[in-house]
Amino acid sequence: MIRKILKWTGILLAGLVLAAISTYTYMSVSMKSRMNKAYAFEKEIIEIPTDSAAVARGKHLVAIKGCQDCHGNKLEGKVMNDDGAIGRLVAGNLTKGKGGLPGNYDVSDWLNALRHGVHQDGKPLLFMPSHETTLLSRQDMSALIAYCSQIPKVDNTLPANDLGPVAVVMSYLGKMPLLSVEKIDHNKPMVARADSAEGAAQGKYLAVSCSGCHRENFKGGEPLAPGFPPVPDITRAGHVGKWTKAQFIATLTSGKTPEGHVLKNEDMPWKMTAQYTRGELSSLYDFLHSIQ
Ligand code: HEC
Ligand code: HEC
Repeated sequence: MIRKILKWTGILLAGLVLAAISTYTYMSVSMKSRMNKAYAFEKEIIEIPTDSAAVARGKHLVAIKGCQDCHGNKLEGKVMNDDGAIGRLVAGNLTKGKGGLPGNYDVSDWLNALRHGVHQDGKPLLFMPSHETTLLSRQDMSALIAYCSQIPKVDNTLPANDLGPVAVVMSYLGKMPLLSVEKIDHNKPMVARADSAEGAAQGKYLAVSCSGCHRENFKGGEPLAPGFPPVPDITRAGHVGKWTKAQFIATLTSGKTPEGHVLKNEDMPWKMTAQYTRGELSSLYDFLHSIQ
């Protein structure tokens, strides 16, 4: 009797393992083909200014859009993650040094990356938040490219991306923003310029950078990956609703909430928000406070 039960338990377990392996193989093959698809977008050309005001604006955008959190302080590229579960995630060297962007990487290539989410060869960028950068105004996009095209070369050759099983499964289930190329409305034209007057409209434009984690409705939700804290509601309905504007600004520049909670930069990138101007943070508050 016991032997029979053991035998059947063994067969059942073997069946489960086999089912898990074939499901995983299916997901993995499907993700590989989506990652290797080559896209072609109509070449777009925009005027890239060279004046110092535009370059300074581009530098500010690099600071407040978190480019350095992923690509490194000098945009020299960085291994963002390397473990067995998620795998190796690499944000490329954006300088023209060794291991960086090719010498012929031009404005249309920058636009392909920042507007459409693809490499020079049309293959998707992995984990690059192009679905956010695509919403930059034409004026900001050109300032960003102006700045990035003149940064000093840094030699830094990086290993290739190598997704682990957790990243494959989460991406397949749409729980990880792997392929922004699939999320972008590629026909949407760039807005010429964004509202630069302090207030809720400017806040809405800036808050695109918060939506990746705090969600499109800014109401937060589940942790972004296993092991991370849940993402809080930052509308009027959350803590922010009880904070004054001064407390909001103090939180986002010091990493400490009025309740005394210390934010870790790896969870909530407050070193990025600390680089927003006071006016920009005030606009963010006005916007978030306007959402019930
Ligand atoms: C969340 C992390 C993250 C942020 C923030 C981020 N990037 Fe990226 N970026 C990546 C990753 C990862 C890749 C590499 C994708 C790949 O190789 O598949 C990438 C690729 C790129 C590429 C394409 C390079 C190539 O080899 O084709 C450009 C250009 C780029 N990023 C520019 C920027 C700029 C400018 C900003 C800020 C506005 C920015 N990125 C913000 C993660 C990020
Ligand atoms: C990379 C993901 C990420 C991005 C981008 C991000 N946040 Fe957060 N944020 C978090 C997480 C996670 C927490 C919770 C951290 C904790 O519990 O320690 C948080 C916490 C906060 C808090 C504290 C809320 C509370 O209830 O205590 C505020 C305010 C906040 N974020 C505002 C912003 C704003 C404004 C932006 C955009 C400019 C932004 N965040 C961008 C992930 C992010």
